Amino acid sequence: MFNTLFKFKTGNTNLNLDLSTIDLEKVPQHIAIIMDGNGRWARAQGKPRTFGHQAGAETLKNIVKTADKIGVKIISAYAFSTENWKRPVTEVNFIMELLSRYLTSEIEEFHKNNVQVRFMGSREGLPEVVRQKMEHAEKVTAENTGIILNLAINYGGQAEILHAVKNIVSDVESGSLKVEDIDAQHFEDYLYTKGLPAPDLLIRPGGDLRISNFMLWQIAYAEIWTTDVYWPAFTPEMFLEAVKAYGGRERRYGGLITK
Ligand code: FPP
Repeated sequence: MFNTLFKFKTGNTNLNLDLSTIDLEKVPQHIAIIMDGNGRWARAQGKPRTFGHQAGAETLKNIVKTADKIGVKIISAYAFSTENWKRPVTEVNFIMELLSRYLTSEIEEFHKNNVQVRFMGSREGLPEVVRQKMEHAEKVTAENTGIILNLAINYGGQAEILHAVKNIVSDVESGSLKVEDIDAQHFEDYLYTKGLPAPDLLIRPGGDLRISNFMLWQIAYAEIWTTDVYWPAFTPEMFLEAVKAYGGRERRYGGLITK
């Protein structure tokens, strides 16, 4: 069982999170998060959009800590999509620099907390320095046994499926795979999430009600929880609210509940 209170320091703020109402049996194993609303959050305060991305990176840290505390095994977070390249070059560069800094500044802390960092997306087209830091982060934390932080960088769900299909075709052509052996389970071995269970819960802050090309295959049966709150303002308390709501959902996977 959880201790009732989780004392939590974030920046200069001390939080006391009440965990007593979280049902340990009903905590999702894998939570996917579309971290949306950074730009609007910053603009609402008369700040540049980049300020929102910076704050969003901080939010992610707090959510990973909270998730780990309540026994979530995997957080998959959308940091940069294959479509985000369409943004102004200054914003793209800022996000790349932010990622690069984040992967340096946070990696020790993640490692100390036994977090395993992994990535999904295409490394092609990413700045060399970001690629190197991604490899370094993966290597340093590879043996960690705590929560997995799966960061989606240069990621798109459709691109992921196409990438899988091309590799499958190539394996069929080379004779290492037979067409009749391809089933859903086998297909998943060709996705970036190979070896990970599918997300149970998808959280989308920022008020938009769409999937935005995130984990299209994997979220087939995920429960969805949304809020109008922008990602930088998303708190550990809100995260617990989403987890509690998940605990009350009835998952049927297309079948019927037999009572
Ligand atoms: C969506 O907000 C957010 C992004 C496109 C980038 C997400 C990036 C971060 C949270 C920071 C980088 C992450 C790490 C781990 C360093 P938006 O810009 O679409 O906001 P808007 O919808 O208000 O315009």
